[in-house]
Amino acid sequence: MQIKTAEFLMSNTDLTKCPEANLNEYAFIGRSNVGKSSLINMLTNNAGLAKTSSTPGKTQHINHFMINKSWYLVDLPGYGYAKLPKTLRAKFKSMIEGYIFQRTNLVTLFVLIDSRHPAQKIDIEFISWLGNNSVPFSLIFTKCDKLGVNNLEKSLADYKLELLKYWENLPQIFVSSSVKGIGKDDILKYISELNKTVKPDLD
Ligand code: GTP
Ligand code: MG
Repeated sequence: MQIKTAEFLMSNTDLTKCPEANLNEYAFIGRSNVGKSSLINMLTNNAGLAKTSSTPGKTQHINHFMINKSWYLVDLPGYGYAKLPKTLRAKFKSMIEGYIFQRTNLVTLFVLIDSRHPAQKIDIEFISWLGNNSVPFSLIFTKCDKLGVNNLEKSLADYKLELLKYWENLPQIFVSSSVKGIGKDDILKYISELNKTVKPDLD
């Protein structure tokens, strides 16, 4: 799939002000600093579309982007940044949960995991929470440029084993590097296939 247009639409903390849920939507979630906003920029060929920062806690709103005038990409705040004040972390948590439950047009949630680290409790708990609430999700292992091929393979294999402790089947898994453009074709192809088969429930 070619991205022909990618436009910033709006930034919200109030879910009721998000765009009407009448187009397919794909959102990016994961720990603060894992590379959500950078991945959106890489996928859309637009380095300045989503705001990125080397300091965790940069994205603090629900950000909607209109792609090819026909579907939405959404950049969400990260979870698990210990240095944020407790009240702000609680606010992000309720914003994220509210978003996931209320966006009936959410086709799949891409959960980003830093490929350099062993499985973190907070990610495993979040993934389990998604499973318990029947939220469709896929995993993207980010920043793969920071690992050599062997270490990346080992890291992925270890992570899959960890997931298989809790799950019978593995979700769809992607590997990405926003620096090198890795993962772009696979992720866009996946979205394109979903767009052909899934239509938003407008009831
Ligand atoms: P929050 O909005 O704070 O939750 O962070 P985020 O998940 O949106 O991360 P962001 O995209 O802002 O990136 C965080 C840092 O990681 C930035 O310094 C990016 O340049 C860097 N980064 C993101 N993706 C990659 C990648 O694929 N490779 C490398 N080497 N660095 C990356
Ligand atoms: Mg961000």
